[in-house]
Amino acid sequence: MKVSALILGLVACALSTAPLLATAQTATVIKFSHVVAVDTPKGKAAEFFAKRAGELTMGKVKVEVYANSTLYKDKEEMEALQLGAVQMLAPSLAKFGPLGVKEFEAFDLPYIFDNTAELHKVTQGPLGASLLGKLDPKGIKGLAFWDNGFKSFSANKPLKAPADFRGQKMRIQSSKVLESQMRALGALPQVMAFSEVYQALQTGVVDGTENPHSNLFTQKMFEVQKYMTLTEHGYLGYAVITNKKFWDALPADIRGQLETAMKEATVYANKIAQEENDSALEKIKASGKTQIYALTAAERTELKKALVKTHTDMASRIGKETIDAIYKETGFDPAKM
Ligand code: LMR
Repeated sequence: MKVSALILGLVACALSTAPLLATAQTATVIKFSHVVAVDTPKGKAAEFFAKRAGELTMGKVKVEVYANSTLYKDKEEMEALQLGAVQMLAPSLAKFGPLGVKEFEAFDLPYIFDNTAELHKVTQGPLGASLLGKLDPKGIKGLAFWDNGFKSFSANKPLKAPADFRGQKMRIQSSKVLESQMRALGALPQVMAFSEVYQALQTGVVDGTENPHSNLFTQKMFEVQKYMTLTEHGYLGYAVITNKKFWDALPADIRGQLETAMKEATVYANKIAQEENDSALEKIKASGKTQIYALTAAERTELKKALVKTHTDMASRIGKETIDAIYKETGFDPAKM
């Protein structure tokens, strides 16, 4: 982390917890920090939001986007948001457990969504809104869900059957569900900040990982992984969040304009996500640097069978009501897995 950035933020906080509201000359600045490349679904959506926020508020709000962990890394960005050192983030849903909002880890359950349409029944409906509301007591306001996509596994050996994962050190995000998922395969999960994954793969600190193709491509992880398996075993997406005190202190008209900008950015994000991941996969294929394997139907069934136990193993952590509410929206039947 940039220690200086955090210190500066803390000083700013100490001086005033209220946002720096616009005067005749100065704009309200929203620092939007994230960990992925600009050329990804989240990176592009953040830029889109920044542009529309500036236009709709007629320059009264200036959104500064800091991509690629340049301002804060995973864990630090959450702390910085709560302290008011940064105003907006879009962490992956797998990163809310350490904050105490364990319900978000339901999104990490393997195979809980068959496709994006099922996922949107949750994220774009009342259940999604009620999940975002769970952030309020943490001083965080949930603004929207943004898609990335479904994950593939990668490693330096072919991963076709559960037995292939045994003993593999696999980098995961900070989610107990992902930990349980990897253990169900006999792998050794290792939590690590996103910004450190490329080097850890390159130096052999971990053997493999999982991510949607846009991340595997833009972070060049595929260059240091000999094999990738198209599993789509789990979803990775984001909650766009802001510091609640900051948000509530904004003038109502400005807040309304920012809400409109966020609605537009959400439509945009969810429209481009699949295209971005598809084009990243094509570029990975074209590079010839990693061998890509598509599971057969039988292999997919075997992997699913090995992973479904995660749903019951993690029910007490996530809350069975949340899992059941998702099943109800999507029509998922665990007995049929
Ligand atoms: C990861 O840590 O793998 C992802 O959460 C990165 C991201 O924000 O897409």
